[in-house]
Amino acid sequence: MQFSKISSEIFQKIQNLLGATNVIVDKEKMYDYSHDEFAALSHTYFPEVVVKPKNTGEVSELVKLANREHVPITPRGGGTGLCGGCVPIFGGMVLSLERMNRVVEVDRQNLMAVAEAGVPLEQFYHAIEAEGLFFPPHPGDESATIGGVIATNAGGARAVKYGVIRNFVRGIEVVLPTGEITRIGGKLIKNSSGYSLLHLMIGSEGTLGIITEATLNLYPPPEMLATLVVPFATLHDAIETVPAILQNKIIPMAVEFVDQESLQITEEHLHKKWPCPNGKAHLMVILDASQEDELMQLAEKVSAICEEHNALDVVIAMDKQKQRNILEIRSKIYEAMRNAMVEILDLTIPRASIAAFVNAVDDLSQRYGMWCPTYGHAADGNVHTHIMKARFVQGAWQITPGWEEKYPKLRKEIHELGHEFHGMVSGEHGIGLVKKEYMPGFLDAAQLQVMRNIKATLDPNWVLNPGKIFDPKEKV
Ligand code: LAC
Ligand code: ZN
Repeated sequence: MQFSKISSEIFQKIQNLLGATNVIVDKEKMYDYSHDEFAALSHTYFPEVVVKPKNTGEVSELVKLANREHVPITPRGGGTGLCGGCVPIFGGMVLSLERMNRVVEVDRQNLMAVAEAGVPLEQFYHAIEAEGLFFPPHPGDESATIGGVIATNAGGARAVKYGVIRNFVRGIEVVLPTGEITRIGGKLIKNSSGYSLLHLMIGSEGTLGIITEATLNLYPPPEMLATLVVPFATLHDAIETVPAILQNKIIPMAVEFVDQESLQITEEHLHKKWPCPNGKAHLMVILDASQEDELMQLAEKVSAICEEHNALDVVIAMDKQKQRNILEIRSKIYEAMRNAMVEILDLTIPRASIAAFVNAVDDLSQRYGMWCPTYGHAADGNVHTHIMKARFVQGAWQITPGWEEKYPKLRKEIHELGHEFHGMVSGEHGIGLVKKEYMPGFLDAAQLQVMRNIKATLDPNWVLNPGKIFDPKEKV
């Protein structure tokens, strides 16, 4: 696939459309648009130009231009992704949606909100809460944007009871690779009207269309939340407790598992304290209920189940600030570890197999002599193994000798293990740039061919986010 460079003529057209202040070519200023949270470490690619449209009409004009001239165009939200999904590997334009940052409407009657794609989650949560409503998913970093979390079908901790982002999207406005603007779905709970282009676009990582606006389903807020932190002597004990909670007909909002060593590193990084220092591994359980006595009953039941499964202690946080503190420490483990990390994995496996899977990963980690702490979303079966190039010993990171040679083999073996456990390569981060080589190991040839055909039908010139999920050179 041959792409064109941005000629001075194309550049002039872009400037005429957006105005000079919304077009960046200065290399220093473009650095922020050359990587995501993961790719900052090893996959940095500069675009030829960064464009910042203000509305869907401008996005459409830019896409038409890119398609006509065969210039790659890579949409970008908050840049918080973890698989290089918004990195412009073929140059061309990075299209940042940061100026499309309006919460258009919070519709209390329909329990829906309409927001432009560039609205950061933090702003969205505030707008919803101001209207006394609730948006359950919490995909970790609140500077992620609405368009970005839809494009990757993000998940996060609070997905057990209410589901991932996909379950909340009811409508989208999309600019197709031809530049046509289409509105899919709407303020609808049910929609069985032909193939679901909505669900095709959700999770398509900006390769099939650029989402410019979304209609999202809301909930009335739970009256009360309780966050339980439960330490165990082993990770195995912690994870084995999860099926018992679910079998007792309790569906928490979140059930996370974390290892003590990663927690300590995060405490130091944030200068914040996790509520209990003991144990090798912890569960974090968030419960919600509409009444205090109902919530207390749930909390007591979960505590009793944990104690039956060898919990060392149970700490219950009822106070909002304490709950926020716990969720923040849990959400920032990645940030605390990333400078000593080679890669974060995002395998998803049947949740009843997590304990066996983590044990098998531990065996591999020991065989290779590389530290691979694993934490994640226990009740979702979504497991984040960090492949580390160093370990934190007595207050300092110590590099693991030979990690460069070991890493590709270890990474391959862990993914093979994921396949043996009937898992999938990504539960919530997406494929982007760094996971695409594992697609054939998890998806059969027929599915991959259908996916490539879809890409080629919608985007015959492969201009939209090329090199993500598939390589442009892969035959259709
Ligand atoms: C988390 C991110 C890394 O679960 O997905 O913390
Ligand atoms: Zn996660």
